[in-house]
Amino acid sequence: MSASFTAEELFQWIEEGRDYVYLDVRGEEDHARFSIEGPSEITLLNIPYYDFMEDPEGAVAQLDPSSTYRTICAKQGSAMFVAEVLGEAGFEDVRWLEGGMTGWGQVLIPKRISTPEGYELWQFNRPGKASCSYGLVHEGQMMVFDPSRNADFYTSFAEAHGVRITHLFETHLQADYVSGGASLAAATGATYHAHDGDFASSTLSYTSVVDGATVSFEGGRGPGVLCTHAPGHTPGSTVYLIDERYMVSGDTVFIVSVGRPDLGKKVVEWAKQLYATLKERICTLPDALMVLPGHYTDWGTEATEDHLIMNDFGTIKALNESIYGLDREEDFIAYIVDNMRDQPEVYNTIRQVNAGLLSPAAEELDTMDLGKNECAASHMAA
Ligand SMILES: [Fe+2]
Repeated sequence: MSASFTAEELFQWIEEGRDYVYLDVRGEEDHARFSIEGPSEITLLNIPYYDFMEDPEGAVAQLDPSSTYRTICAKQGSAMFVAEVLGEAGFEDVRWLEGGMTGWGQVLIPKRISTPEGYELWQFNRPGKASCSYGLVHEGQMMVFDPSRNADFYTSFAEAHGVRITHLFETHLQADYVSGGASLAAATGATYHAHDGDFASSTLSYTSVVDGATVSFEGGRGPGVLCTHAPGHTPGSTVYLIDERYMVSGDTVFIVSVGRPDLGKKVVEWAKQLYATLKERICTLPDALMVLPGHYTDWGTEATEDHLIMNDFGTIKALNESIYGLDREEDFIAYIVDNMRDQPEVYNTIRQVNAGLLSPAAEELDTMDLGKNECAASHMAA
């Protein structure tokens, strides 16, 4: 019986640059659509498992017995099977991914951001979606921003750190992943903050975000969270400024690019809103503000040396001169239109799920929640 590995171990190995060969045994289409990636380069092969069933010798002959293989499939059965085949062929130390790509798609990697004393700020990176949620911890309480569907992760994290989740914030009605906000609110009793611009027609019970209001921890001590309405990516998009030092920017500001305003199919109207937001509400913020985005596209350009997805706003403006340098609304709209591309059909369904209008079965949610995001206005800002 061959050994397995977890999605957390997989991320750690990628971070450490382990010299493994990752063998994805799903079909070519699935592999092309969504595969593993992380902060360092990896060696990734794709040989479908049915090749190992139909012609085991031929499939095995494509591999190098001196390499160390880690097998991956959709759920885990085929990766386990191929690991067995390789083991029988004399390959050593072959292991298979527990929970397959479905598990990889949900895994969250907590990383602590260095802050002034008195509170903790955590980035929860979801490498399978290339998205980030955040936790702000102060004296036994935790606020969570943009939680993803893996609610167990957040409750376990809170328990392990001896804190209660007291506030949940949505930066917007997500289209690309299933939110864990409503289920976490139900499980923890935390106040669920969301903007009417996106959530008014939802069936969820939430507390309306008020532009310019500051949300505090119970007892009034600790860093404040200033809510700033930032329409454009969606009408209700909101950014949250923590302690005047950090901005949880959702899909409004990314390290590279900005959030695409065309997902609602009102591209010109929303692009105008985004232009006004960027000029009047975002570019007025200090250059030293650290931006904590909802998504990223590329580890190489968007992560720090410590593998955090963040940067200061001054650097971000310089990196995205092709966007922030535009000084006429019509030029900005033209930029958005030039960079437009199709959005995955499933996004409409995900929006309905996140508004409480649809409640698909768990397996269906797994499928719609899998795969990298498509939220940036451009693949590269340059
Ligand atoms: Fe988004």
